[in-house]
Amino acid sequence: MPALRQLGDVIPLPAAVRPDSAGNFRIPADVSVTATPAAEDIAEQLVELLRRVTGRPVSRADGGSFRVLLEGSDDNGPLTEAYGLEIDRESVTLRAASNQGLFLALQTLRQLLPEERTTGEIILPGGRIDDQPRFAYRGTMLDLARHFFAPAEIRSYIDSIVQFKINHLHLHLTDDQGWRLEIPGWPRLTEVSGGAGTGVDGAGPGFLTAWEYADLVEYAASRYVTIVPEIDMPGHVNAAQVAYPELTRDGNPVGPRTDAEVGYSSLVADKERTYEFVEDVIRELAAMTPGPYLHIGGDEAFSTPPEDYRVFMSRVLPMAGKYGKQPIGWHEMAAVDLPPNAIPQYWRIEPADDGVARAAADGHQVIMSPADRSYLDMKYDDQTPLGLDWAGLVGVERSYDWDPADRLPGVGEEALLGVEAPLWSETLRSIADVQFMAFPRLAAIAEIGWTPRERRNWPSFRARVGAFGPRWTAQGVTFHRSPEIDWAE
Ligand code: ACM
Repeated sequence: MPALRQLGDVIPLPAAVRPDSAGNFRIPADVSVTATPAAEDIAEQLVELLRRVTGRPVSRADGGSFRVLLEGSDDNGPLTEAYGLEIDRESVTLRAASNQGLFLALQTLRQLLPEERTTGEIILPGGRIDDQPRFAYRGTMLDLARHFFAPAEIRSYIDSIVQFKINHLHLHLTDDQGWRLEIPGWPRLTEVSGGAGTGVDGAGPGFLTAWEYADLVEYAASRYVTIVPEIDMPGHVNAAQVAYPELTRDGNPVGPRTDAEVGYSSLVADKERTYEFVEDVIRELAAMTPGPYLHIGGDEAFSTPPEDYRVFMSRVLPMAGKYGKQPIGWHEMAAVDLPPNAIPQYWRIEPADDGVARAAADGHQVIMSPADRSYLDMKYDDQTPLGLDWAGLVGVERSYDWDPADRLPGVGEEALLGVEAPLWSETLRSIADVQFMAFPRLAAIAEIGWTPRERRNWPSFRARVGAFGPRWTAQGVTFHRSPEIDWAE
């Protein structure tokens, strides 16, 4: 029988853990779940979880030993994700003021239970967890443009990431190679640039229909994950220009590109057709996206002259607000005057950035994604068969042992909306490849985003992630068995 887990042996490490070994709870033969009426959905998820691990029927009844309690005001702003988990000899109680908090409590409880059906006695460690996140935004990005991943694969990835309390999934939907989201009124974007051979090295076809996108957004929302769609511009637009040559400077056709070069394509800042196109895309995307953010890219626009970049961004950034959304952009956009609600996302490896520091001083929130720490497409070590190494090798300790509030001068704790770990897919062809690059490093970034800074340390994370290995195996999730970790069998 597996050793009894300690109450704090979960990822991310909770904010406050008070173990009480006198309060260990033995799951009885007749398990039942009680819930406040508005917590019905989470209660059913708990029933499913308990059925799966015990292999026994689980009933719903008043006075059940598992209790799911929605109490207090749901309107507590940044604390909407807070929850409590109390385990004593008689009962296990999940408590929160929102269903999101209860969902997160359930993720914690899941890690304290066996992953698979267990016939022997199951004991939960006694004590109390009071938990809440350090940052509101804990994200990861998946690049669908270089290689497409199908809706079922993205859904399975969402299931994997919510276990670590990741709450935003940024989808990089367009790039030089492919355009992966159907946009009403511009059918050639996906007919041509979502077609066969549009992935790097000629892989593909693939794109999300508007219906598939809506379905994904809904699936994510039911797991408290906000989809952040990205349309990258004014650079990284070759696929759009292949589909609509009117978007090039001279209107002449350009050829498709399936190599991994960057920086050669640009929308044309002094052409009205550019803004008709961009506004159509932003309006349609805003209409399809219930979440608050639209990501407008803005990176590596090496063939957009700086003044054109400024003109373009000054017209395009406010369009997000016009359609009710808050714009996020890669931090190059911080070189221009930003609308008040724009959020720069820092992605480079330099130790300082004037534009981002100025934006923070002006009150902008920042998302931290330094490539040398948080890019999941960097190789772990020089043996890693997938990935790139332009930002260096990023082992598991390197991805864990840094702090976003120390990364850039002038960008401290108060300026941070949160952290995100992007995963670019030039070298990735399957969801197993995605999982291999993401895990265990995404668990590290998730803990950085969630756990109070002073509570976390590498030896503790290293032990907990080693213990998580068999869960990934049981879930059929590929992960990198990094030699930095002692993996449990
Ligand atoms: C980026 O990696 N070009 C944002």
